Amino acid sequence: MRIVLVGPPGAGKGTQAAFLAQNLSIPHISTGDLFRANISKQTELGKLAKSYMDKGELVPDEVTIAMAKDRMEQPDAVNGFLLDGFPRNVSQAEALDEMLQHEDMKLDGVLDLEVPETEVVKRIAGRRICRNDSAHVFHVSYKAPKQEGVCDVCGGELYQRDDDSEETVRKRLEVYHTQTEPIIDYYKAQGLVVTISALGKVEEVTGRAMEALKREDDAA
Ligand code: AP5
Repeated sequence: MRIVLVGPPGAGKGTQAAFLAQNLSIPHISTGDLFRANISKQTELGKLAKSYMDKGELVPDEVTIAMAKDRMEQPDAVNGFLLDGFPRNVSQAEALDEMLQHEDMKLDGVLDLEVPETEVVKRIAGRRICRNDSAHVFHVSYKAPKQEGVCDVCGGELYQRDDDSEETVRKRLEVYHTQTEPIIDYYKAQGLVVTISALGKVEEVTGRAMEALKREDDAA
């Protein structure tokens, strides 16, 4: 399956993607995680990405599309992938369509996670991620690590993302409404969008997502 996950910052995309990718046996491809890995390694791409991410702005399409394309072309993604955080505007969505058409492939569905802004703010404020791997995500109240400040998965140090400050989150939400939400209409026109509520326990949301994706698959 080839799936796009969309939703505001802090909706739980990364959290859900980890479970969904495992259930569906496809890789979880997060452009945010790819940028953060580059930042950790202090690559040129990482330095460039950080200058945009710290302001809550989108990293320019040219570098983002090239990075996403390169990741989607890796051998583990031949039979499908779950995209988290890409595409993030209509030109990225058009570029993805072109890439897929070129390979005679298509998307199977776009899963839209709906969460009220008040909840998003609470989720982001309490989020802590691992220095070793930003896909290891915790929350001080909703998913507290066994030992404060230490990753349950690998023992790495937990920290708060630089772009999780109140001011940057406000900017990220604005960017989501103006630049990312339009891709929902873009994909609705292709009949690909399923919207679910991302409120409730993590496993309840995963259950809802799996059911919605199964319905899409059966209808295809
Ligand atoms: P990115 O890393 O993609 O961030 P985002 O889209 O803003 O999403 P988040 O990672 O903040 O949230 P999430 O929805 O994954 O939530 P999570 O599962 O962590 O992008 C960061 C930046 O990179 C962008 O601003 C941009 O600069 C750049 N970038 C990335 N992609 C780009 C692109 N394509 N083009 C250009 N620029 C790009 O959950 C949040 C918290 O809530 C966690 O603590 C979690 O434990 C908790 N939680 C999750 N689910 C639940 C639940 N059901 N109940 C209670 N708590 C929950």
